[in-house]
Amino acid sequence: MDWGMKSRMARIINPDTGKAVMLAFDHGYFLRPTHRLEEPRKTIEPLLPYADTIMLTRGVLRSSVDPESRANVVLRVSGGTSIVGADLSNEGLTTSFKDAIRLNVAGVGISVFVGSEYERQTLLNLAELVNQGEEYGIPVLGITAVGKELEKRDARYLSLCCRICAELGTHIVKTYFCEDFEKVTTSCPVPIVIAGGPKLETEMDVFEMTHSAIEQGAIGVDMGRNIWQNDHPVAMLRAIRSIVHENNSPKQAHDFFLTVREEESRKVASA
Ligand code: 5RP
Repeated sequence: MDWGMKSRMARIINPDTGKAVMLAFDHGYFLRPTHRLEEPRKTIEPLLPYADTIMLTRGVLRSSVDPESRANVVLRVSGGTSIVGADLSNEGLTTSFKDAIRLNVAGVGISVFVGSEYERQTLLNLAELVNQGEEYGIPVLGITAVGKELEKRDARYLSLCCRICAELGTHIVKTYFCEDFEKVTTSCPVPIVIAGGPKLETEMDVFEMTHSAIEQGAIGVDMGRNIWQNDHPVAMLRAIRSIVHENNSPKQAHDFFLTVREEESRKVASA
C-alpha cells in the first residue's frame, strides 16, 4: 500500500485500536430530509468532536460543515435515485475524483445492490471507483445496500455481498449486523463496519448490537439514525465510541451514556 493510501486509511481506522467510529449523515441523498437531519449543520456540529470520520455527500459537506473543523470525511459518491423513483438500485457515480480530492477526503463510499436488477451496474461502478481510488491513494468503502428490502439482512446474503465487494478491491465494507454475523466477517478478507439501520427501541439494543458486532469481527460502525435520532446524540455517540475503541461492555456503555446525558443536562440548566 502506498503512503497516501495508508495515511488515509489511518484517518478512518485508528491505528492505535484498529477500530473505526464513522458517523453517517448521507441519508438525504435518496431519502427525504430524514427526521432530525432536516437541518444538517445543527445535527452534525455537536457530534464532530467524537467521530473519527463523517460520511456524507459533497453538497451537505460544503453547505453544512466548517472546513476548519478538521473533520475526516468519507464522501458518498453514488446516487441518482430516490425513494419515490422506480428503482433505488439504479445508482451511478455522482462525484468525480477531482472533486473528492479537492475536498481532501479520507475515503469515498458507494452502494452496491447485489441481487437487484442493477447488480452488474453497481458492481462495475464499485470496480471503477477502486481503479481510480488505487490511482489516487483514496480508500473505497463498499456499502452493501438493501434499499427498502430490510428483510434481506441475513448472513447468507450479506456474506455474499461483502465477499463480492472485497473481491472487487474495496478497502472497507459497510454492511448490516445480523444473526451469525461471524460468518460474514470471517469470509470477508477486508475490514467490516456496520450500519445501524432504522432506530431501535432502546439505547441498550444499540449498545448490544454494536458490542456483538465487534465481538464477532467488525472493526467498527458507520452509524446514523440510532445516534442522531436519539434525544441525546452526543451521549449516544460517546457511549458507542467507548464500546468500539475501549472495548466497554453494553452495560458499561449504558452507564457512560447516563453519565454523559446527566452532564449535558446540567450544562443546559446552568446556561
Ligand atoms: C444508506 C447508508 C447509510 O449511511 C447507512 O444506512 C447508515 O445509517 P443508519 O445507521 O442510519 O442505517 O449508507 O445506504
